[in-house]
Amino acid sequence: MPETVLLDAKKPQDLERAAQWLRQGELVALPTETVYGLGANALDERAVREIYVAKGRPQDNPLIVHISRWEELEDLVTQIPPQAKQLADAYWPGPMTMILPKSHRIPLATSGGLPTVAIRMPSHPVAREVIRRAGVPIAAPSANLSGHPSPTTAQHCVHDLWGRVRAILDGGPCQVGVESTVLTLCTPVPRLLRPGAVTPEQLRAVLGELEVDPAVLHRIAEDAVVSSPGMKYKHYAPKAHVTIVDGDLDAFAAYVGTHQGDGVWALCFQGEEGRIPGRSLTYGRQEDPASQAQALFDALRMLDELGAQRVFARCPNREGVGLAVYNRLLRAAAFEEIAL
Ligand code: TXA
Ligand code: MG
Repeated sequence: MPETVLLDAKKPQDLERAAQWLRQGELVALPTETVYGLGANALDERAVREIYVAKGRPQDNPLIVHISRWEELEDLVTQIPPQAKQLADAYWPGPMTMILPKSHRIPLATSGGLPTVAIRMPSHPVAREVIRRAGVPIAAPSANLSGHPSPTTAQHCVHDLWGRVRAILDGGPCQVGVESTVLTLCTPVPRLLRPGAVTPEQLRAVLGELEVDPAVLHRIAEDAVVSSPGMKYKHYAPKAHVTIVDGDLDAFAAYVGTHQGDGVWALCFQGEEGRIPGRSLTYGRQEDPASQAQALFDALRMLDELGAQRVFARCPNREGVGLAVYNRLLRAAAFEEIAL
C-alpha cells in the first residue's frame, strides 16, 4: 500500500509532482470539469492494471484516455472520421468522450480488451496542465471505488482511495458534477452510450443523426452484450434503497408522509424541504438541471454519511443535461421508479 500524498493544484510544484508520478507509472487522482479522475499513464500496461486494483473495477470495463492537444489523437487511433474533427471543434476541450478504433499504442488493458478506445480532451485547466507536463496520455476512470458515486471533490477521493494511490491532487469541487457524455463513432450511425453535459441535441446539431443506446434509460441484463461495459454494472449506488418518485410536489410530499420510518429520507429540490414531511436533503434547483448535476453525487454520498436506509427521490426533468441526471439517478435506484 503506498503512502498517499495530498497535493494542492494551486501550487505549481505540486502540479509538477503529480505529472512526474504519472510519467513514472504511479496513480494520481486529479480534478476534471466533470468528476475527479484516477489517472495513470495510458500507454503503460502495468500502471493501467493498478487502476483496476485500486478501484476494485472489473477488468473488462475500459478506461477513458485523456489528452491535452488534438495532435495527440493521431497516434492513439487508426482512423479519424470527419465527424470526430467536427465534434472536437465544437465540444473539445470539454465533457465529451469519443470512441474510435484504437491503435497498437493503446494496451488492451486500457481498452478493456476491446479494439476501440475512448478519448477525451478535458477543459479543466489543472487536468490539462498535468497531462501536458506528464507528456503522455492519461487513462482515468472516475476516482471512486467501483460501485460508489463518482467523486466531485478531493475529499470524496480521500474517502475512497486513501492508501490506494500515490497522490490526490486537490483542485476544488468539479463544475459539471456528472461524468462526460460518451458516444461511439464506430457504429454505422453515431450512438450515445452515456449522457452528460454535452446533450443529445448538441451532438445532433453537429452529426445530424444520433442513436441513443437502450442502456441509457433501461435496465440491461447482467449477462447481456452491451456497447459500453460500464453500463451493465450497478453504478452510483448509495447504501440506501433508493426509489425515484415521479409526480408533483404535493403528491410527492403526501407519498413520503405515508412512508415515514427509521432511516427514511427524501431527496428533493432546493426550497422544497419545508413542504415535505420527515427528513430531507436537496440536490439542486428544480428548474436548473445543471445545478442538479453538480449536486447529485455529493448528495448520494451524504445520504450514506447520514445513515439513510430508504430514500425517495424527486424525479428530474429529462431535458438537456437533465437526461444525464436522470440516467445516474436511475442507476442509484437500480431502476426503481414509481409514478404517482
Ligand atoms: O467525465 C468522465 O468521463 C470521467 C473523467 C475522469 O474524465 N471519467 C469517467 O470514466 O467517467 P469511467 O471509467 O468511470 O467511465 C468510462 C465509461 C464507462 O462506462 C466505460 O464502459 C465506457 O466509458 N467506455 C470506455 N471505453 C469504451 C469503449 N472502448 N467502448 C465502449 N465504452 C467504453
Ligand atoms: Mg466511473
